[in-house]
Amino acid sequence: MTLLPGRRALVTGAGSGIGRATCERLAGEGAAVVALDVDADAARAVAGDVGGIALVADVADPAALEAALRAGMEALGGIDILVNNAGVGAVRAFDRYGDEEYGRIVDTSMRATYVATSVVGPAMVAAGSGAVCNVASVSGIRPTRGEAPYSAAKAAVIALTASAALEYGPAVRVNCVSPGVIDTPLTAPLLASDGVRAAIEAGTPLRRVGTAGEVATAIAFLCSDLASYVTGVNLPVDGGSLVPSAQVDGVLAGIVAWERRPRP
Ligand SMILES: NC(=O)c1ccc[n+]([C@@H]2O[C@H](COP(=O)([O-])OP(=O)(O)OC[C@H]3O[C@@H](n4cnc5c(N)ncnc54)[C@H](O)[C@@H]3O)[C@@H](O)[C@H]2O)c1
Repeated sequence: MTLLPGRRALVTGAGSGIGRATCERLAGEGAAVVALDVDADAARAVAGDVGGIALVADVADPAALEAALRAGMEALGGIDILVNNAGVGAVRAFDRYGDEEYGRIVDTSMRATYVATSVVGPAMVAAGSGAVCNVASVSGIRPTRGEAPYSAAKAAVIALTASAALEYGPAVRVNCVSPGVIDTPLTAPLLASDGVRAAIEAGTPLRRVGTAGEVATAIAFLCSDLASYVTGVNLPVDGGSLVPSAQVDGVLAGIVAWERRPRP
């Protein structure tokens, strides 16, 4: 038995990492998939692998995104699932982002999520059902130094999730995942440093980085009937990295160890 038999899904940023894994998972669960990416070769490769349809568009361009979404809905004969996954980041001091880079980061995550949901949401409402899943980030909940535009854009994605859940319910459920550090081409340069990887693992209760497939599983759940009474939530998929407070975690470890001491 599959989770999404006969569903029609469109995934943005489908050519790599979490988007590719999501296309594979949704197709594996029985959905027909449109793989949208700005990288034409990557979109075609994923679509070929999952037996889906490739679309090429820059989601940061509202007119191009809307045209691609309408083409995708026409090709599928409607749409049941939208995954707003495309996103780009950078690491730079707060005041060192130029206009172009700031715009690219914010437009790819926040604006594209708004535009795509504005186009697809009403179509889902008219059809009587649908599920949207946005991909935010733990950085949108707990910003880190060096990621100001990215963190702000992802916080906005979480807010847009709540607004859309309120406005497009009850027909449409709108949810969001917030990945922690996931092993994808986006994080490869960061994780290439053993020191950085070790520090990230040490600050993660599950003591490892995540896989794209683990995020895709959460997305598939939120888009499926298993989550039929779930809307407006932001689900961290982060190995628990949001749990410990950087300031006090470990401070009380001695007392915990004392409590756990072997007793006669
Ligand atoms: N990897 C992580 O640790 C992590 C953590 C938190 C959140 N995220 C988020 O998950 C999402 C996917 O990240 P990933 O790690 O899989 O990245 P990735 O770089 O592996 O893949 C991103 C894909 O999006 C496409 N893309 C980028 N800009 C686009 C645009 N303007 N229009 C259309 N397609 C575009 C790229 O071509 C690429 O195929 C992003 O929104 C990212 O911010 C990732």
